[in-house]
Amino acid sequence: MSPSSVLDLPQLYTKPSARALLDTLALLTSAPPSWDYKAGPDTKDGTSVVALREGEPSAAQIDPEGVARYLTSIVSNNLKWIQDEEVREEIWNQASLRLSERSGRTAMGDLNRRFTIPSRDGSFELKIHEPALTGDDLGLKTWAASYLLAKRLHLFDLIRPEQGAKAKVLELGSGTGLVGLAMAGLGADVVLTDLPSIYTNLARNAKTNAPIVEENRGTIRTGVLDWTSPHSCTLFPADVGDTNSDGETLSEKFPLVLAADSLYSPDHPEMLVNTIAAWLSEDMDSRVIVEFPYRAAYLPEIAEFRKQMTMIGLQILDEGEEKGFDDWGDASKGEDALVTCWWSCWGRKLPEQDS
Ligand SMILES: C[S@@+](CC[C@H](N)C(=O)[O-])C[C@H]1O[C@@H](n2cnc3c(N)ncnc32)[C@H](O)[C@@H]1O
Repeated sequence: MSPSSVLDLPQLYTKPSARALLDTLALLTSAPPSWDYKAGPDTKDGTSVVALREGEPSAAQIDPEGVARYLTSIVSNNLKWIQDEEVREEIWNQASLRLSERSGRTAMGDLNRRFTIPSRDGSFELKIHEPALTGDDLGLKTWAASYLLAKRLHLFDLIRPEQGAKAKVLELGSGTGLVGLAMAGLGADVVLTDLPSIYTNLARNAKTNAPIVEENRGTIRTGVLDWTSPHSCTLFPADVGDTNSDGETLSEKFPLVLAADSLYSPDHPEMLVNTIAAWLSEDMDSRVIVEFPYRAAYLPEIAEFRKQMTMIGLQILDEGEEKGFDDWGDASKGEDALVTCWWSCWGRKLPEQDS
């Protein structure tokens, strides 16, 4: 049975064994390597309960303040009764990590996370590396909208192996690459792009997931595409992993463009839409699929995006809202970690609809 109070944890004055301390520290982890929102039963006030994240053991539910005090007491204790210096170091290290996790994502080190992506005939798993967050590099973390979109992609029926032709897809602002890699894992030829500062980690994730993508008959290319220069995209060999080698200029256009969580500055709607206009092929069955979180501060950006998309001759074919976790945050925040996202699928307006 899981302890429910900090007093149920091994107390230092009893000189607990190293094993007991390490087991306890493992139990206190508050950062699951992946998350999945599963709607729980409704509460009396009509809000939805955040249920356990699928496939993950639950972190012990103990009063958070007591846990922080407990962890600090381990970090500041000399643990002299534990003979092995290396084991003592490991205990201090684990206690420090648990403290960092409780200070939120920005205080955490790097992470490897696993995401299960549904497909037409089952599911597959992607492994995503997230470096420790530095400064404003939001693309080093995987955001709720991208996981929701990654799980939704198979529903659009974009891959039709029976028709022979492969879907050609461009992702803008890929970040850690979850959406583009999911699309490739569904069997498409995908180009994932982002800013130079995000590229190395994006290429790393592309390389890690290349075997499952290949197994599922997709392909991945990665490159730098900055929306401030919307017509220029340079691809680099993913196995090199940096932008120092000679790149190849991308010249083709794409019948499908994807983007998730790309609007968080007043400049973004116009820049993103200009970039979409530059790369979306002219065919009437071209599609743009996006998913953005409704963040209070950036609702005008979503409205502007909608306006700009219609100005380049696109219209919404389908749209909806769904909820996901923007971050695991701090366990005590509960529903605050939930974010509502808007997804939409856009296609070209018929010429007569344009007038
Ligand atoms: C909030 S993150 C979302 C990342 C990823 N799509 C996800 O949802 O997990 C926004 C992404 O847009 C990228 N971005 C911002 N400005 C950009 C620009 N001018 N050109 C290309 N990418 C840009 C960032 O580098 C970052 O990866």
